[in-house]
Parts: sequence; C-alpha cells; structure tokens
Amino acid sequence: MNIAANIGPALALDSADATSIARLRHQAEGCTRCDLYRNATQIVFGEGSGKAEIVLVGEQPGDQEDLTGRPFVGPAGRLLEQCLEEAGLERERCYVTNAVKHFKFTPRGKRRLHAKPNAGEIRRCAWWLGAELDIIKPKLVITLGASALYALFGPKVKLTPERGHILHPANRPPVLVTIHPSYLLRIRDGAEQRRLRRDFVSDLHKAAEFQLR
Ligand code: URA
Repeated sequence: MNIAANIGPALALDSADATSIARLRHQAEGCTRCDLYRNATQIVFGEGSGKAEIVLVGEQPGDQEDLTGRPFVGPAGRLLEQCLEEAGLERERCYVTNAVKHFKFTPRGKRRLHAKPNAGEIRRCAWWLGAELDIIKPKLVITLGASALYALFGPKVKLTPERGHILHPANRPPVLVTIHPSYLLRIRDGAEQRRLRRDFVSDLHKAAEFQLR
C-alpha cells in the first residue's frame, strides 16, 4: 500500500498576514469573507499551541462549538480525543482547527442541523487556515474528512483513495489523510462502527512519531 505518496504542490492558499495566532484570531473575529457569519453565534477559531508539531483540521464547528466558541468540544470532539489518546497522541500538544470557521446549519424546529460547507465557503475560509499553517509550521497536518482535504488540495485529491496515506506536497508540511470522527458517529451497525474506529485509530497512530520529540 502506498502510504507515503509524493504529490504536486498543495493549493497556494491566499492567506492572511499575521505573525502570531493571537493576532490572527483577533483579525478573524470580524470575518465577513462569506455569508456564514450572518447566522453563526461567533467565529470558532483554531485552538492549541502555536508551536504544535501536529495540526488537525476538521470541517466546521458544530452546534456546541458555535455556542462555546471552541473547536471539537461536542460529540465528535470527544470521540476524536479518545481516539487520539488510543493512538498515543496528546490533544494538548496539537493545534486543532477547522477548514471553515463559522457554523453552517439549517434550522429545524428548535434544532440546528449541520449543513455541509460548499466549495466557495471552504476556499474563502482557507485565508485563515493557510495563515494558521504559515505561523505554526507544523511537522504534520492531519485532515479529518473531505472538506479539510479539499481546503488544502482542491478537487483533485479524493478522500477514499488517499485515506490512511501521508501525502508530501511540494510546498507544505506532510499531510495525513483520514476520515472525520462524526462519520463514525453516524454508523448504526455496532460491529462496523468498531471496525472503522480501529481503522481511524490506526491512521492516527501514523502521526504519533511526529510527536515523539
Ligand atoms: N466537527 C468539526 O469538523 N469541527 C468541530 O469543531 C466540531 C465538529
């Protein structure tokens, strides 16, 4: 299995210019680069050390993230944290962020149902993601799901064939491609869920060596 594919350049992300994550976060607070800010409670910026070896990129904040202003604090975040721990990774030493920084949802009665961000929203928000990566300069980026992969590579790199591989773009840190933990939460069959969870942990395990030092 090809687990270390060399690949052309990642997208040249047109990014914000800032010298620290704190300054970048401050700039992002007033973001109106797409319309998602209109209905979201607040921006949910990345969180973690500006010197992290590993940056994890999810899709977009969910309901609880939107209310608290922190990434991956809801059910998908709790599952991610357990799987990271099983893979020997410490969340506190990672920087955790999203491809899209505002919650996109469809109101359904009192509930707000997750709606997938579109290509334009992901591209606009890559302005912040690109700057986060430029400042942190991690040893490894982990993309969780298709939207994060799209943010870095555009439409030419697909999740299914690359899942579990470490891609080596010419102009960026290596990228470990894996699924989004919320995918596991949607699987009804217990045995299937356990099997795919093991695969997810085994993908994350490939990142552990980047956090050894
Ligand atoms: N899903 C994501 O992609 N990001 C979060 O922060 C929470 C759920």
